[in-house]
Amino acid sequence: MTMTRIVFVTGGASGIGLALARRFAEGGDQVVLGDISDAAGRAAAATIAGASYRHLDVTDAAQIERTVAALEQDLGAIDVLVNSAGLLQNRAETATFPLDEHDRIWAVNYRGSYLMCRACAPRMAARQDGAILNIASVNSFTPLPLPAYTPTKAAIDSLTKLLAAEFGPAGVRVNAVAPGFTLTPALQSRIDSGDRDPAGMKRLSTLGRLVKPEEVAEAGYFLCSPAASAITGVNLLVDCGFMAAISYNTYPS
Ligand SMILES: NC(=O)c1ccc[n+]([C@@H]2O[C@H](COP(=O)([O-])OP(=O)(O)OC[C@H]3O[C@@H](n4cnc5c(N)ncnc54)[C@H](O)[C@@H]3O)[C@@H](O)[C@H]2O)c1
Repeated sequence: MTMTRIVFVTGGASGIGLALARRFAEGGDQVVLGDISDAAGRAAAATIAGASYRHLDVTDAAQIERTVAALEQDLGAIDVLVNSAGLLQNRAETATFPLDEHDRIWAVNYRGSYLMCRACAPRMAARQDGAILNIASVNSFTPLPLPAYTPTKAAIDSLTKLLAAEFGPAGVRVNAVAPGFTLTPALQSRIDSGDRDPAGMKRLSTLGRLVKPEEVAEAGYFLCSPAASAITGVNLLVDCGFMAAISYNTYPS
């Protein structure tokens, strides 16, 4: 018997979140996109069978609580939470990177994911079932010169494992995917503005190309599926081999 799950995807209007939303819908799940980008979110939901859109700012704890409660009232229990709302960062140095931008990146990438887990995991635990997917990064494993972004992704890795341990006894699985350089609208706009060098990113990935959002979505879908029923607390690299090759490629002799 196939069961239709309710899947809530933050940051679902674009990029990796949108690709995940499409993948869950293809698998027969009922998807709800949450985002601050309302026009894009509504347009995206209109292209996905059975999907709907809700305005949600993941930096707003009260709004999260209201939205999650209303969604469960309207549609039923959230079976799967995907935390894909996030901000990228350009190369910067610690001393000169504006503190307000640092705080904004932390507010969305780390605190936003934390607040969403805080709202949803206890509800899943009360039902003894549920899966959460966080979006980490290769930055979870090695520091790149992104003084706000990199530590948020190390923290997401830690949060994923902490929550997996805390909520595992209640039947809730918590995993992450760690994408490498993934060609989403966020990365494309940085390539277009000259802030990122696609040739350099490809050179550092042993498969010689950028990751596609659909490839991240496939791995995330698997981690939230019954096929991964014994897997919790992992942070699965989907990086075209960036992490495998980074030391190899930069060996100094
Ligand atoms: N693109 C990459 O190379 C890459 C690599 C590793 C990890 N990631 C992570 O993947 C996630 C998605 O990134 P993307 O590249 O798809 O970016 P994207 O900009 O294409 O999508 C991010 C979405 O998050 C939404 N968002 C931003 N702030 C929000 C808020 N306060 N509340 C709700 N929604 C908000 C945006 O409106 C957008 O729709 C992020 O966590 C990012 O760090 C991306």
